Amino acid sequence: MAKHKTEKLDKRKQDGAAAAVALPRASDINIGISDEDRAAIAKGLSALLADTYTLYLTTHNFHWNVTGTMFNTLHTMFMGQYTELWNAVDPVAERIRALGHPAPGSYAQFGKLTSLPDVPSEPPKAMEMVRILVQGHEAVARTARQLFPLADKANDEPTADLLTQRLTVHEQTAWMLRSLLED
Ligand SMILES: [Fe+2]
Repeated sequence: MAKHKTEKLDKRKQDGAAAAVALPRASDINIGISDEDRAAIAKGLSALLADTYTLYLTTHNFHWNVTGTMFNTLHTMFMGQYTELWNAVDPVAERIRALGHPAPGSYAQFGKLTSLPDVPSEPPKAMEMVRILVQGHEAVARTARQLFPLADKANDEPTADLLTQRLTVHEQTAWMLRSLLED
């Protein structure tokens, strides 16, 4: 091998070694939010993830089990709602990861973390389903809102933005469902 080629390779090896030394460890996250705040925000987002997943499952269950004269309306409405909730869990989980923490994702973990009751084992009547979903959307909104001051204090704009989007959806969906309960 020509001498200059060997030198080039040696240089690359050295650069590689330097880069390896400079690589941050997984625990070294420096995005301008303290370790303490990242942990607290991740914890709040984990509660939001568990609530969102539980409400997703409840809504999908009701899509399957709804009966009565409102079947077509509610079956279709619940499908729109569970699809939205299903799409919402991913950005919440990935924000937890971006903050350096593991995202919960098991029924056992969700059961411990959620503020919502589990899906009823016996399918309720159609309007009782609507009432349960109103309460569920209101509960998720409270969980999201509770975390807002901390995200704001830590200048965590991506989390604040996510919370704002989730609050908008949950409050609007609660209103629409609530309207079905009024005469
Ligand atoms: Fe379906």
